[in-house]
Parts: sequence; structure tokens; C-alpha cells
Amino acid sequence: MIGAARKPRQPAMRAPVVLGIETSCDETAAAVVRGAREVLSSVVHTQEQHRPYGGVVPEIASRCHVQLLPGIVREAVERSGVGWEGIDLVAATRGPGLASSLLVGWSFAKGLAMRLGRPLRAINHTEAHLHSVFLDPAAPDPAVCYPMVGLAVSGGHTNLYRLDAPGRLEPLGRTVDDAAGEALDKAAKLLGLGYPGGPVVDRISRGRTPRRGVFPEGRVREGTETGGLRADLCLSFSGLKTSLLHAVTARPPATDDEVAQLACDYQEAVVDALVRRCDRALDATPGARALAVGGGVSLNSRLREALRALCERRGVRLLLALPKHCGDNAAMVAGLAGAGRGVPSPAAFDLEIDPSWAAG
Ligand code: KG4
Ligand code: ZN
Repeated sequence: MIGAARKPRQPAMRAPVVLGIETSCDETAAAVVRGAREVLSSVVHTQEQHRPYGGVVPEIASRCHVQLLPGIVREAVERSGVGWEGIDLVAATRGPGLASSLLVGWSFAKGLAMRLGRPLRAINHTEAHLHSVFLDPAAPDPAVCYPMVGLAVSGGHTNLYRLDAPGRLEPLGRTVDDAAGEALDKAAKLLGLGYPGGPVVDRISRGRTPRRGVFPEGRVREGTETGGLRADLCLSFSGLKTSLLHAVTARPPATDDEVAQLACDYQEAVVDALVRRCDRALDATPGARALAVGGGVSLNSRLREALRALCERRGVRLLLALPKHCGDNAAMVAGLAGAGRGVPSPAAFDLEIDPSWAAG
């Protein structure tokens, strides 16, 4: 139980203990992190209710968040061992994401911060994915990694940034249509592999040799609307999906083996497109020391292997999040707030959610 409202405290001189809340899509998550990196607890619930629909249903997602969030926040605080009294700051994802999902976590965080008499911070979800690599205790101090290139790649986003210092993000590239995870999920659906498809495609592709050139790379034509970003640093996955549809319609795969081979070829096209953009983004970042990759798709074993090869060839450090921090989670939200990022209160209390909030 949350105790009686407390008097505002003096700002903590030690690293703040942050309670983070994440509800931007279909994961309901809460975590407690000390400073920017020390995860004291992290609770993530992935909603299974969307499976039969082959994608996230916003109405169901928000109802689940409403139902689950109070218990998940309580569990995160209990597991952290610091108690409600030990929480110095409340942080939550304000965007980007699904509006109705964001509303639940953001409103809950506002109310909780008021109740506890603690400051509030609005956190950008995409920037939080990039911070997730530093939740690995084995990761280096961020200070020695700048300038670096960051790739946030998941079911909802595919964005490339150049990071020159903490919080100094410059967008370099993005997808002009589907996100990479969405492209994998749609392919899996076409191949009858279920949802979410990324993990299945990854699993059945292992040990196979991809046939290169079966699917197009997903180049973005000069002149396409990219929001001022270089076309050769942007990605397009819609053509790839269409060519799989054509391939499957022209000649439906007859065996599990044929399905797996198509999935493997398709995955290779997605991985190839991502790795090429990372390579170019490193070219566009003179003196780059590291490449940080976060988001659900960064769990992909083939992508990890290809990124490792790229970074080895280029002599830059590859920073990947621990598997438990690749998908949506609240530890990355709390950690980013602990690093001093995000919009602080009192301004935060007046902010609405922003479903298309750009990082940087
Ligand atoms: O970060 P995340 O949990 O949520 C979003 O913000 O979207 O990412 C979910 C996405 C889904 O598209 C899922 O298919 C993909 O990440 N994913 C994978 C793998 N595991 C999850 N994609 C490829 N390989 C995987 N092993
Ligand atoms: Zn995400």
C-alpha cells in the first residue's frame, strides 16, 4: 500500500532511485533503477491477448494496461527492496507509441508522483531503447563511447541516430514505411508462422544458408519524403513484403522446409538493409567509437552476427542490450531518467502524451 502523502524532499545528493513505467505498446512494465544503470528490479508483462489477431489491438492493449499496471508497479517496488519511501523520482514513457496505451502509463505516473510527492520525468521511448545497452553491467561508461551511432529497431520503429554527447541525438535515418519488426511480423503471418513472427523467423532460419538477391534490399528512392534525412540512410520494407506476397502467390511453399528457406531469405534481406545503413551511418559519423543497437529486433541472432562482423571490420565497439532489455521494458525508461534525460517537473505535469514524439 502507498502510505500517506509525504512532504517534498530535498533533492537527493546520491544517485536518484527512479521508478520507471512503460506502456507504449503491448508490454506493461515497471522497474526501479538506481542512477542510470543499476537495475534493482524490472517487471515486464507481455500481453498475450493480441496473438489471435496477428497484431496489437489498441483497445485491448489499453484495457490490459489499466488492469495490470497497479500490480506491476507494486511488484517492481517490492522486488527492488527500497520500498515506496526509497523512490526519489517517477519516470514514464510519454511517446512515441500507441496513444491509448501511452495515456494509461503517463496518467498513472502523474498521479503516482503527486501521491508520493516526488518529481516526474517524461521519457522518450526511442531514446530509452538506445540507453538500454548501458543497463548491461559489462557495458563501458557511456562517456568513452561518443561519438556513436544508435539504431533503435523494433516492431514500432526503425531509427538511426548520431549521438555526440549524452542527450545530443541527431536523426540520421529512419524507415519510410514499415518498421523492421513489423516487416518480419507481416512476413511470418503470410507464411502462416503466427504472431509475433520475428522470433519464429529467427529460429527456423538458424543453420540455413540464405539465398541472396531473392528479395529486394528496400532502397529509398531519391526524392521520397524522408523528413530531410539522406535517402541512402533511410529504409523501406513495404516492397520487400510485396515481393514475398508475389513469391508465395506465384508458387506457394509446399513443405516446412520451403517455408523456412523463404523466411531465411527474407530475414537476410531485412538484416542486410539494416547493416548497410549502420555502415553508412558510421561513415557519416567521423571518429565514431561505437554502434549501439536496441529494440526487440536486436534480439535477432542473424542481425547480431552481422553487426558483430561489421563492427569488427570497422574497429568500432558494438553495444547490444542484454536480451531481457531488448524488448520494451521500464528499466530503460528509469535508467534514462536516472541519467538526467527527459522533461523534468514541474513542466512534465503539464505535458500530454505525444504518440509521435521524436527523439533528440
Ligand atoms: O521492442 P519491442 O518489444 O516492441 C516494440 O516497440 O515494437 O519489439 C517487438 C518486435 C516484434 O516485431 C518482434 O517480432 C520483434 O521485435 N522480435 C524479433 C525477435 N524477437 C522479437 N525480430 C527478429 N528476431 C527476433 N529474435
Ligand atoms: Zn519499443
